[in-house]
Amino acid sequence: MIADGLNSKVFLAPMAGITDKPMRKLVHSFGAGNIVSEMVAINALSRRNAKTYRIADVRDEPYPVTVQLVGSEPKLFAESAKLVAELGAYSIDINMGCPVKKIVANKSGAYLMTEPKLAADIIKAVKQSIKLPVSVKFRKGWDHKSVNAVEFAKICQDSGADYLTIHGRTKSDMYSGNADWDIIAAVKQAVRIPVVGNGDIDSVYKAKEMIEYTKVDGVMIGRAALGRPWLIAQTHNYLENGLEPEETSITLIKQTMLEHISQLQKYYGEKMALALSRKYVCWYCKNLRNARKFREIYVKINNTEQAIAEIERFFAENGSDIDERS
Ligand SMILES: Cc1cc2nc3c(=O)[nH]c(=O)nc-3n(C[C@H](O)[C@H](O)[C@H](O)COP(=O)(O)O)c2cc1C
Repeated sequence: MIADGLNSKVFLAPMAGITDKPMRKLVHSFGAGNIVSEMVAINALSRRNAKTYRIADVRDEPYPVTVQLVGSEPKLFAESAKLVAELGAYSIDINMGCPVKKIVANKSGAYLMTEPKLAADIIKAVKQSIKLPVSVKFRKGWDHKSVNAVEFAKICQDSGADYLTIHGRTKSDMYSGNADWDIIAAVKQAVRIPVVGNGDIDSVYKAKEMIEYTKVDGVMIGRAALGRPWLIAQTHNYLENGLEPEETSITLIKQTMLEHISQLQKYYGEKMALALSRKYVCWYCKNLRNARKFREIYVKINNTEQAIAEIERFFAENGSDIDERS
């Protein structure tokens, strides 16, 4: 077990603007897997910013959600951890890996890898404030001249982290190149607490490969779950029971897409849901024949009725004529 109550080896990665409540519900509907929220900015949360507060509130979700916090002040982290615990978080993850300019400029995210003392103070403050499991998600280092994941992992462990997630890229890499699985293996070897490996897992087989190569206790999947929310449960079933994933049917893609749009509407309202649905529809359609033409039509649509009609038409016309999805 990775941590108390987190019974799967497989995690849906936190992705800002993506792993929102609709996406989490959808991923959960396919079965087992641990689910991490989008990052929650503690500065905004402490001001009771309405949008941030809503992101942090997971009370109506009937499965354990790990809520990820991002910020830089230990005291504010402690207060925020208490608040998100009240708002239903099952465990708390501390973001020490985000490479986005706006975040690191605020001494948050991956910046904290350059200030291990501050990082340690944050972890200690969060641990003291709540009884929930606390994890830290970080990268290989700031850049290739300052790779410090192994030392950093030990600091996190000594500060009280219950488990760690390491993404095998530096902050400077952003998302380019290949994730370095050797650094993941080195981190796993250096600490006693469970380690979750992250970076470039795009199939159930790749997940197994990472576990075999790095010996990590769990795996985290991000981009590969875009348009494939069933991948988390599939990976769990493959790792736990050797269950081969079924070939993705066109019906599953269509039904999931429609369900996703319906969940977006319930949560965000019609106008915003339609805008947000554009990116998801593109991901669901990836590798389907005539997808490009369909996307061109879909992005111009400005009401839900028309959106549903176009989806129905697209699948009726292309339903039995698809490329195989990877
Ligand atoms: C659109 C997007 C948003 C992300 N947002 C977050 C975030 O809020 N917090 C975080 O720790 N990582 C975030 N990440 C990084 C992912 O959690 C993950 O570490 C990264 O995508 C590598 O895993 P993958 O190769 O499976 O995608 C984000 C990644 C993407 C693509």
